[in-house]
Amino acid sequence: MADKGKVTVTSSPKLLLLLHPNDIAVLKSLSKQEIGLKELAAKLKMNYDAVMRSALTLKEAGMADIKESKKDMPALTTEGKRFLKDKFPEQRLVAKGEQKIEKLDDEEKRIGITWALKNGWVKIKVGRVMIEKTPESYDLYEGLKAIDAGGAVDKKVMDALKDRKSIEVKQEKTFIVSATDGGLKAGKEAETVKGEVNELTSDLIVSGKWKEAKFRQYNVEAPAEKPLHGSMHPLQAYIEKIRRIFLNMGFEEMEGPEIESSFWNFDALFQPQDHPSRELADTFYLSKPGYMYYPKEVAEKVREAHEKGWKYTWNPDVAEQPVLRTHTTGVSARTLVEIGESKKQPGKYFSIGKVYRNEATDYKHLAEFYQVEGIVVWENASFVNLQGCLKEFYRQLGFNKIKFVPHYFPYTEPSMEIHVYHEKRKEWIELGGSGIFRPEVSIPLWGKYPVLAWGLGIERLPLLKYNIKDIRTFYQNDLKWLRETKID
Ligand code: PHE
Repeated sequence: MADKGKVTVTSSPKLLLLLHPNDIAVLKSLSKQEIGLKELAAKLKMNYDAVMRSALTLKEAGMADIKESKKDMPALTTEGKRFLKDKFPEQRLVAKGEQKIEKLDDEEKRIGITWALKNGWVKIKVGRVMIEKTPESYDLYEGLKAIDAGGAVDKKVMDALKDRKSIEVKQEKTFIVSATDGGLKAGKEAETVKGEVNELTSDLIVSGKWKEAKFRQYNVEAPAEKPLHGSMHPLQAYIEKIRRIFLNMGFEEMEGPEIESSFWNFDALFQPQDHPSRELADTFYLSKPGYMYYPKEVAEKVREAHEKGWKYTWNPDVAEQPVLRTHTTGVSARTLVEIGESKKQPGKYFSIGKVYRNEATDYKHLAEFYQVEGIVVWENASFVNLQGCLKEFYRQLGFNKIKFVPHYFPYTEPSMEIHVYHEKRKEWIELGGSGIFRPEVSIPLWGKYPVLAWGLGIERLPLLKYNIKDIRTFYQNDLKWLRETKID
C-alpha cells in the first residue's frame, strides 16, 4: 500500500474484494480505448453518478485513467426552435407557391426571399415570387432536426446554422475513461473471482455459512454523493438564537397577531390619528376584515389621553381599521393591558415577529421583516437599565461596538436609536428604536409608569455577521445559498 487510503494493483484478487459490484462492472467494460462516461453509463444501463463514482474508485486503485475533455455541443436557439416547429422562412415561402411579394409575411420577405434565391428555388419578377423548383428536403432543416435529437451533422450545415443563429455552440465538459495495464489484468481476474458476499443476511447467520463467506470490504475512502437533507432556514436559525438569548436573560415570550387593528398598532401607542406614519404610503391597510374589535374600556382611556394630549376629537372608527402591523410594539401594548387585568405578572417580556411597511426595497430595506420587541415592566426601571439590557443583548450576538442616538417616537420619552458599527463598510448602521413609554401610553394601558420598551430589526444582524451583501438574500430561496449558509 502506498499512502493511506490508496490501494495499488499488486494483489488484485484481494483488491477486487474491496470493490463494489458496480466498480467491477465498470472495470470489466473498460479497455485501452477511451470512452465517454455518459456513453459508458448508457452502455452499462447504469446511472451516470454511479459510473462516475466507480471510475473514480478505479482511478484511485490505479486501474483506470480519467481525462477531462471539452466537447462542442450545439443547441437550438429560440429562433432555431421556432424554425424547427414552423420551418425556415424560405421553406414556408416556397410552400406558398407563386405569390405577390406584398402577400408575404415580414420574415418571409426579410429572410425567406434571400435564401430561396440563393438556393435557386425562386425568381423574382415584377413584384412576384415565381417558383423555380420545390425542394424535396432541405439540408439546413434536416440539420436542425438532427441537432435537436442529439445527432451528428456535417460541418458545412453546422456552420451555416451557426451563421444564421439558429444554433449556438457551447462547450460541454465530459470525462473519458480507459483501463490502465493493471486495470486490464484486474478486469480479467474479476471474471474468476466470485463468491464474495455483499450483505450479511439472517440466512447466512442462521446457517452458519458466514464462517466461510468472503465478505466484500468497505472502502470508506471512496468518493460518495453528498446527501441532501432538510435544515432550518438561516434566518429562522438566527431568530432561534435571539429567542434563546432573551429566554436566558429571564424574559418571557409574548405573542400578537400580524393582522392588527389600528387601535393596537397606533392608537394605544399615543399616535394621533392624523400621524403621517398611518398614511397609505407607509402602512398596508386591509379591506378585509371590514373592521376589527378592540376593547372599549381601554379605548375610553386612550381617547382621553389623545384628546387631552393632541387636542383633537378621537374617532373610534379609525381605530377599527385593520392593518398589517408596522411594528411589534402593539404586542407590548396588549401585554400591558393583560398585566393591568392581572392576567400576566409585571416582568420582562419579548416578542419576535414579522412586520410590514409599504416601502421600496433595496440592499438594506425590506417591505416585510422581523422585529424583536421587548418591555421591562418594573417600577424601579431606569434609562440606564434599558441601555444595559440592549448592550447585553447585542454583546451576546457578538456586536460590541454599538451606540445610542437620541431620537423621537410618539410613544416613548426619552427615545433613542441603536446603531452598530460596520467594520467593513466603515459606517454606523441603524438597528432599532427604544425608550421609556410615555405616561400617556402606560397609564391608560395598565395604570403605572415606567415601562422600558424597544423594537429591533432582525435581518440586518445576520447580514452584518455573515457578510451577506443584500438583505433580500434571505427571501430569495436560493437553494445553494440555503444549503451552504450555516448559522453558528
Ligand atoms: N416601534 C419602533 C420601530 O418600529 C421601535 C420602538 C419600539 C421604539 C419600542 C421605541 C419603543 O422602529
